[in-house]
Amino acid sequence: MAIVRKAIIPAAGMGTRFLPVTKSVPKEMLPIVNKPVLQYVIEEAVAAGIEDVLIVTGRGKQAIENHFDYNPELETFLERAGKRDLIQQVREIGRGAEIHYVRQKEQLGLGDAIHLGRRHCGKEPFAVLLGDTIIDSPSHKSGLRQLLDAYEAKQASVVAVQRVPKEWVSRYGIVDGTAEADHANLIRLSKLVEKPTPDKAPSDLAIAGRYVFTADIFECIDQTSKGVGGEIQLTDAMNLLASRSPMFALTWNALRYDIGNRVEYAKCFIDFALRLPDTADAVRKHLAGVKW
Ligand code: UTP
Repeated sequence: MAIVRKAIIPAAGMGTRFLPVTKSVPKEMLPIVNKPVLQYVIEEAVAAGIEDVLIVTGRGKQAIENHFDYNPELETFLERAGKRDLIQQVREIGRGAEIHYVRQKEQLGLGDAIHLGRRHCGKEPFAVLLGDTIIDSPSHKSGLRQLLDAYEAKQASVVAVQRVPKEWVSRYGIVDGTAEADHANLIRLSKLVEKPTPDKAPSDLAIAGRYVFTADIFECIDQTSKGVGGEIQLTDAMNLLASRSPMFALTWNALRYDIGNRVEYAKCFIDFALRLPDTADAVRKHLAGVKW
């Protein structure tokens, strides 16, 4: 059985919904309290057993590489200031996986961003984690680990999905298929539609920003022409893949925060601040006193 060791994290988008901050700060580096979104994403991958991460970056995204690199100046400063515990914290960032980078020169869509990982992944299956999406799993298994378990059971490409209100379907890729008899949470996919209008959506199951692909997806991206917005849509390539070989959707036990959306970002920040030991009590007290 081919084990999934590698992951691609697309993080080259312009983040226009978050302007003006994304003029100088990558959307994937927005903080959730004291950690950037991308650090949560990499921690999820490492917790799932991923050993090798390829981040797709672009112009103006240098903060990403800096964050996952050592910073000797900062460490010397912390040493002098007697803050040795913080040295450990900054050194630990991104530990557990080897991190590589590739640049997407033009923003040609998610399909194009993933295709840039072709040489890196070769014939191996690989995971994709959107760099602007945090998955919060209430169980001991990280979001990606749940997906990898489904991949290992079926030996086929699998994508995480979750139900969304009907009026939200036009924000996401929506899937259609039939339930698998031997697996309560798996759907064998027949069709995927990118950002449909509510009346054209085949279901309310939205792709949740985590995927596991066999290397066949690269061939399918090759054969996908530019779609909505002049971009190579991953959903179109997935449609082709589903027409050629079995492909599944997993309805999982996890919560998705789509950080590219301002309201979701705000909810994520508040939810995490209410949970972290050094912020929880003060923030709860503050929220209780807010005059809505
Ligand atoms: P989005 O479509 O949500 O990101 O892509 P965006 O285009 O930056 O957002 P808006 O609509 O302008 O606000 C989801 C993820 O895929 C990456 C993004 O960086 C984000 O993490 N992406 C998207 C790429 O790496 N390359 C692309 O061409 C498009």
